[in-house]
Amino acid sequence: MKMKNSRNEEENMTKSQRRSQQKMNRRKFVVLAGQSSIGIAAGVGVFGSSATAANPRRPDKIVLALIGAGGRGAAHASGMSQLEGVEFKYVCDIWKDRGSGIMAELSQRQPRAPERITDMRQAFDDEEVNAVVIATPEHWHAIATVRACQAGKDVYVEKNPSNSVWEGRQMISAARKYNRIVQVGFQNRSGPYAASARDYIASGKLGQIVHVKVYNMLSGSKWEPRPDTPAPEGFDWDTWLGPAPAVPYNPGRHLDWHPWWDYKGGTLADDASHQLDLTRMVLGDPPHPKSVLCIGGNYAYQSQREVPEFQCITYDYGDFSMTCESGNATNYMQKFSGDVRYGDKWPHWPTAATRVEIYGTKALMYLGRHGCGWQVVTADGQVVAQDKGHFPDKWHQPNFIESLRTRQQPNSDIEQAHHSACLVHLANTSYRVGKQQLMFDGTNERFTNSEAANSLLKPAYRDNYRIPDQV
Ligand SMILES: NC(=O)c1ccc[n+]([C@@H]2O[C@H](COP(=O)([O-])OP(=O)(O)OC[C@H]3O[C@@H](n4cnc5c(N)ncnc54)[C@H](O)[C@@H]3O)[C@@H](O)[C@H]2O)c1
Repeated sequence: MKMKNSRNEEENMTKSQRRSQQKMNRRKFVVLAGQSSIGIAAGVGVFGSSATAANPRRPDKIVLALIGAGGRGAAHASGMSQLEGVEFKYVCDIWKDRGSGIMAELSQRQPRAPERITDMRQAFDDEEVNAVVIATPEHWHAIATVRACQAGKDVYVEKNPSNSVWEGRQMISAARKYNRIVQVGFQNRSGPYAASARDYIASGKLGQIVHVKVYNMLSGSKWEPRPDTPAPEGFDWDTWLGPAPAVPYNPGRHLDWHPWWDYKGGTLADDASHQLDLTRMVLGDPPHPKSVLCIGGNYAYQSQREVPEFQCITYDYGDFSMTCESGNATNYMQKFSGDVRYGDKWPHWPTAATRVEIYGTKALMYLGRHGCGWQVVTADGQVVAQDKGHFPDKWHQPNFIESLRTRQQPNSDIEQAHHSACLVHLANTSYRVGKQQLMFDGTNERFTNSEAANSLLKPAYRDNYRIPDQV
């Protein structure tokens, strides 16, 4: 199948994206029955191989700094530090209790122990540091990325990469202006199964794609507001807030920042962003949709949280439509279990919380993130093609390190990640301006029928935490 807008996409591709696509196009998808699974992933490099050493400072050695030593940051430091030639010089966190576990692990693994710091600028100022891994809450992602690029550092930044449309565009500008690698933590893009799904769809075997349904139907419970308290000892609340408005310390903001517009943008930004990004990738990375409508509310628990418990979104892509259902009120739905993520087990699709359904004129594809894979089914439920996956961090982390050495675009470059993140921002904006359908001018990244919506494209930053218009 060729999407109608494929020519424009082709024209918009950078050389390296084209190379990566050609590489992916050479992949073979799996047609049943019974053949073994596909082999090497697109973008999976041999770490420490004969790749051109393009780092002028230390060609063989990659020196990293971790910024944000919570669960995800620690997982990256653990994974990347096991790759050949990689060392973490700094572990940066503004909370003295965070990061002790990963500090101990790195100290054992590395010739020199990492240094514990609380100010990311120390890592930016250190000539020896090649790249930073940013795993803070979302409202810090853009400013930290832009500042890192300005300091000449490459960046791995977690999803959702930005907290607004404008921020994402500034991140791209900084990456391009300072010629930096900026890889986003949309790790599904490095999964072999994602590449084979894209190949299968591009082959036309699903027919013309007319509709896509993205699910993010998670479990949850009633959200309760918590009273302000003194900040924990050894924790810098003012810096945690960073660019966001100054408010008294509140444990419900600090420890559960997801359902606040100023810090994240809810379950949609947290989990659905992965499925939305994976969907865009397998469809050949379509540009921005023409319009968005998001309804929803606090239906199940009537909690007072800012970001609603449930959201239902419709995107108009012109030649196909896409919906996304996302929320935290369906406890019977299942995120993929360990034996789906890491083993051979297929999920029960109807209760798979994070599945995608891709409807072509000829066939239906079920697709799952977390390494789940994809299956194409016929009317009577027969599986006619499939590719089982594996949790993709094991390809995504080496892909970042490989990019630092080769200076090739990583699998999840900030440009496409920004387009995926915008699906979250557009939907949240539609909800926030009164559940209104918004028309979007993708070229200029502005809404054409709501100034209220345009006012949400860029957050108001606190002094000392502004991202300049000209990065
Ligand atoms: N790609 C994935 O599958 C995946 C999975 C989990 C989390 N994430 C993302 O990773 C990020 C971190 O999530 P987490 O679950 O590890 O959160 P976390 O709360 O466990 O850790 C965040 C850490 O950042 C620190 N921090 C905040 N502001 C800082 C600053 N200015 N400088 C230094 N440190 C700062 C906090 O003190 C905290 O220790 C989020 O963006 C999240 O969406 C991605």
